[in-house]
Amino acid sequence: MERFMSHQHLARDSRFRRADNRNQLMRSLPDDVSEIVRVFEKIAPKIFARIEGTTLEGVYRELGPGFQFLIASGGRQSKDGGRTPMQLKTQLHGIFVGEMQAMEAAGRTLYDFPDAPWEFKMNMARQTWDEARHVQIFEKLLDHVGAEVGEFPESTFLFETSCNDDPVLRVTGVNRCLEGLACDAFRSLMEYGQQVDDMKLTQALDFVLADEITHVRFGSEWSREFTKDDPERAKRAKEFQSETEQSFAFGGREIAREDRIEAGFTEEELDEIERIDAKFPKRETLLQAAEILRDRHLARERGEELGEYRGEA
Ligand SMILES: [Fe+2]
Ligand SMILES: [Fe+2]
Repeated sequence: MERFMSHQHLARDSRFRRADNRNQLMRSLPDDVSEIVRVFEKIAPKIFARIEGTTLEGVYRELGPGFQFLIASGGRQSKDGGRTPMQLKTQLHGIFVGEMQAMEAAGRTLYDFPDAPWEFKMNMARQTWDEARHVQIFEKLLDHVGAEVGEFPESTFLFETSCNDDPVLRVTGVNRCLEGLACDAFRSLMEYGQQVDDMKLTQALDFVLADEITHVRFGSEWSREFTKDDPERAKRAKEFQSETEQSFAFGGREIAREDRIEAGFTEEELDEIERIDAKFPKRETLLQAAEILRDRHLARERGEELGEYRGEA
């Protein structure tokens, strides 16, 4: 069996389709509602061309070119935590494929580093087993909300983050950054489940979150252990962690501080994540822009003629 497998070789059956990876556009957006609306209306035809014929076409028709901000996982979707059925389906599907890749990444890490300490391999084996259970849980949750496996395209960013030949980079990138992010998203989704009185969703998320905290803790402990006598390696790990945080930063996202502290993050690290987030458009700005984009998109669908967006009067 091949070691250090590329994400292109992940095995998927015919239900699955690959998504284009998240574009880097958001990194260049200013924290300005009008500007974001203008940029997205300009590239709307391109966005549509990319998703035409997939289930996301329905999402686009419902939500317009800023749909990704209305369905993005990792935070409250609106002030009251509301999600449309389509938003909930796409978010749960995104988590489902993420769980699958987390299982594959932990399994590969166990296999790729035969000389790693026994306890590390035990932790990765435990994680593989947990993630396999999560895949099953989210498969059932998809069913619970009326969605199907493969209904939305799969982005493989999680597995790609694990494609590193140093195990310390795998646990900083996947366990600490991405599963840390998952803790924030799961906490928010759990609160949503409580709000809408969906006990199945709430309880399932509660169980999964408990495991994720353990996985983040594996990341915290092993990144410390692997780098304890090696300042060079510690520096690389720290840099990679920052880079990964940067690529998934989201302004104004709500960080589940308590969960993350329990998982081995320090207050300083969480402050740093907040500082990184602060450099990007705030969630509130993106949501506002996305709502304007949606309203203008729907107005156009009704046949109204709209010029370039000039901001609210
Ligand atoms: Fe998981
Ligand atoms: Fe996990």
